[in-house]
Amino acid sequence: MDISHIPVLCNKIVEFLKPKSDGVYIDGTVGLGGHSTAILKAAAPNGHIFGIDLDADALTVAKDRLQIFGERCSLINGNFAEMNVLLESHAVHAVDGILLDLGVSSLQLDAPHRGFSFNHTAPLDMRMNSGHKNDAAPETMPTAMQVVNNSTADVLVDIFRRYGEERFAKRIAHRIVTARRHEPITTTTQLAEIVKQSVPKGRSKIHPATRVFQALRIYVNAELENLMAGLDVAVTLLKPNGCLCVISFHSLEDRIVKRRFQTWARTCICPPKTPICICEHRPSVEILTKRPVLPDATEVQHNPRARSAKLRVAHKL
Ligand SMILES: C[S@@+](CC[C@H](N)C(=O)[O-])C[C@H]1O[C@@H](n2cnc3c(N)ncnc32)[C@H](O)[C@@H]1O
Repeated sequence: MDISHIPVLCNKIVEFLKPKSDGVYIDGTVGLGGHSTAILKAAAPNGHIFGIDLDADALTVAKDRLQIFGERCSLINGNFAEMNVLLESHAVHAVDGILLDLGVSSLQLDAPHRGFSFNHTAPLDMRMNSGHKNDAAPETMPTAMQVVNNSTADVLVDIFRRYGEERFAKRIAHRIVTARRHEPITTTTQLAEIVKQSVPKGRSKIHPATRVFQALRIYVNAELENLMAGLDVAVTLLKPNGCLCVISFHSLEDRIVKRRFQTWARTCICPPKTPICICEHRPSVEILTKRPVLPDATEVQHNPRARSAKLRVAHKL
C-alpha cells in the first residue's frame, strides 16, 4: 500500500512556528511525520519534537521516517488532549510551539481494514487507536459497528445531525434501525448502501454517505471533545511567544478553534452592559490569523486533500 501523506500548509506551519535550534515543540498529531520532518529540519541542529498520535500504526511509520533525526524526536502513543500528562513523564512542562493537524491521515483512510472509507468493503471500525488501549485511553472506544447496531434511532439522528450536519438524519437512522432487524450492519459498504437508499437521488456532488461516515468517525473518536480539551491544555503548555497552530478540515472543528482563540484573546470579560471596564482581564494570546489561512490553488492541485484545510494560529503573550 502506498503510504504517502503530503503534509498540508507545511511552509506556513514552519513560517508561524519559526523553529529555533534549541526549541522544544509538540506535534500533537504526528501521523506519518510530514510536518515533524519540516519542523525538525528548520530547528536543526538541536531542536526537539514530541510527536504524539493515537494510532500505533502511524507511529511505526513515523518512527521509520524520523529516525534520521535520532534523539531529537520522541514519539508517544497517546491522546493530544492529555499532552501535559504525556510530557510530564519526560519532565517537560513548557514548549516553544505546538501543532495540531486534525482528522485522519491517508494511512488511515486508505487502509481498507480500518473501516474509515466506504470505497473499500471493511468491518465498520473507525477507531483511530484500532482498539489498542494505552495510558491515555485505558478504556477501549466503541467501534462504529457497535454504534450503528446498538444505538437507538434518536441517538443515531443526533450523531448524524450534530457531527455530520446531515439533513436526512432521521430517514437514515430509521432505515438503519429497520435494516439491522434483519441482519447486523457490519461493513462499510453495507452502511453506505443503506444511506444511499435513504436520501433523495442526485442532490449532492459528494457521495451520499460522506456526512454519515464523518459523523460516526467524529463520534467514535470523541474528536470534538478531544479538540476542546487539547486546545486548553496546549495554551497552558506554551511558553511566552510560542505559537499554537491548528489545521482543521471541517466547519465543526474550525468553529471550536476560532471561538477558543477569541475567548483567550479577549481584553475584557466584564458583563456586556458594564459602562467601564473593571475586570482588568489580560488576554493570554494574540490571534495571528484574523482569517484562517487556506492552501493556494497550486497546493490543492498537488494535494486535493488540502482543499478544505483551514489554519488558525494563536501567539502566546
Ligand atoms: C491529518 S493526520 C496528521 C498528519 C501529519 N501532520 C503528517 O504530516 O503526516 C492526523 C493524525 O492525528 C491523529 N489524531 C487524531 N486525533 C488525535 C488525538 N486526539 N490525539 C492524538 N492523535 C490524534 C490521527 O491518528 C492521525 O494520525
